[in-house]
Amino acid sequence: MADHKNSSYISGKESRRITKFNRRVTKKLEAARADANKDPKLYTTTMKDPNNVVEFDNVCTYFFTDVGTVKAVDGVNFNIPKCSTVGVVGESGCGKSVTSLSLMQLLQRPSGQTVGGEIRFNIGDGKAYNIVNTPNAIMEKIRGNKISMIFQEPMTSLNPVFRIGEQIDEVTKLHNPEMPEEEVKARTLEMLELVGIANKEGVYSMYPHELSGGMRQRICIAIALACSPTLIIADEPTTALDVTIQAQILDLLQNLKDKLNSSIMLITHDLGVVAGMADYVVVMYAGRVIEKGTADEIFHNPCHPYTIGLMRSKPVVGKKVDELYNIPGSVPNPVNMPNYCYFRDRCEMRCEGCDGKYPPEIRISDTHIVSCYRYINDGEVLGYPKSVNVEEL
Ligand SMILES: Nc1ncnc2c1ncn2[C@@H]1O[C@H](COP(=O)(O)OP(=O)(O)O)[C@@H](O)[C@H]1O
Ligand code: SF4
Ligand SMILES: [Mg+2]
Repeated sequence: MADHKNSSYISGKESRRITKFNRRVTKKLEAARADANKDPKLYTTTMKDPNNVVEFDNVCTYFFTDVGTVKAVDGVNFNIPKCSTVGVVGESGCGKSVTSLSLMQLLQRPSGQTVGGEIRFNIGDGKAYNIVNTPNAIMEKIRGNKISMIFQEPMTSLNPVFRIGEQIDEVTKLHNPEMPEEEVKARTLEMLELVGIANKEGVYSMYPHELSGGMRQRICIAIALACSPTLIIADEPTTALDVTIQAQILDLLQNLKDKLNSSIMLITHDLGVVAGMADYVVVMYAGRVIEKGTADEIFHNPCHPYTIGLMRSKPVVGKKVDELYNIPGSVPNPVNMPNYCYFRDRCEMRCEGCDGKYPPEIRISDTHIVSCYRYINDGEVLGYPKSVNVEEL
């Protein structure tokens, strides 16, 4: 029998109200999106800093689900500078993938919508597209060409019924329709060599199942790099691989990034992966950025109690401990987020002020920013993340 006192219980009446509300809101948002296709003013803007490739500015991406609105990404701010690697870390479900899918406009629509903020993508001369409103015709030219993605499981990213060569050729052809066949193939072979595949002619005519996991991930990297993108999004690129292969793939990514002058957005739940590779680190928790800074700042001077907890729960070679630290409690219910610090119920460093509203962003150095009341007197208060009131949509 249903437990009416259970907070996740939804009555039939409430369920009908949510369905009706979702239908109205998503219909309206989809209509606005279709409209934005016409006027370039609605999707062109300027970069705050022309040295960034991407600027996430107070991005809010919500899912209008049958149990209510899930604020998967809620007021996220961070930049990806040119030719650098930005690690985005946080536990499973904190909104890392949704942030990257918002940038690619690959959200599951109509239920998933970016309802607030700007995602500026640098197109040169200080000009930018605001990806949130960019029409599909332009997105098709950006995806795979200017921004490409590498996923966790290489077998599911590759098509099992096509040969490796054809799958890489396809990307080059799609973005360079004029290129002659021989040149396309030569480029593919060049890419295979670049990602460290010795028998490139042989692999060109193989099927994905004939390759090992590490080799498949190299192929995915070759596909992602086929058009020399300005940004590579690597979403847990090594999680499905064993440890020795992980290191090789990360090394490969880092080398190729430097060769192509690209930037990398490296998404992972594993701090170890970020440590060796990232220039900047963004720590997310429950759909928000709680701390960001250079890799050095985050690893040597973590400030937010959650980041400190993450560091303590990471095994360190040469340090003997009886038991690894475990952050107590769990993430709040994403449908009804509290209006105080999302980490408060798990936090062991609570102080005065923590019962107030969600903490503001506080700048502790030029590059180091943290959202926590413990630092309220230590730096400049930059402002509060702006959530969108869905009732007003
Ligand atoms: N298609 C979807 N519909 C509803 N909720 C979703 C959908 N995709 C993701 N979410 C929710 O958004 C939140 C963030 O997910 P995600 O970005 O995938 O997390 P991660 O940090 O592990 O990549 C989670 O609470 C997840 O349940
Ligand atoms: S604001 Fe308070 S409750 Fe939240 S993380 Fe900082 S110390 Fe902990
Ligand atoms: Mg993910």
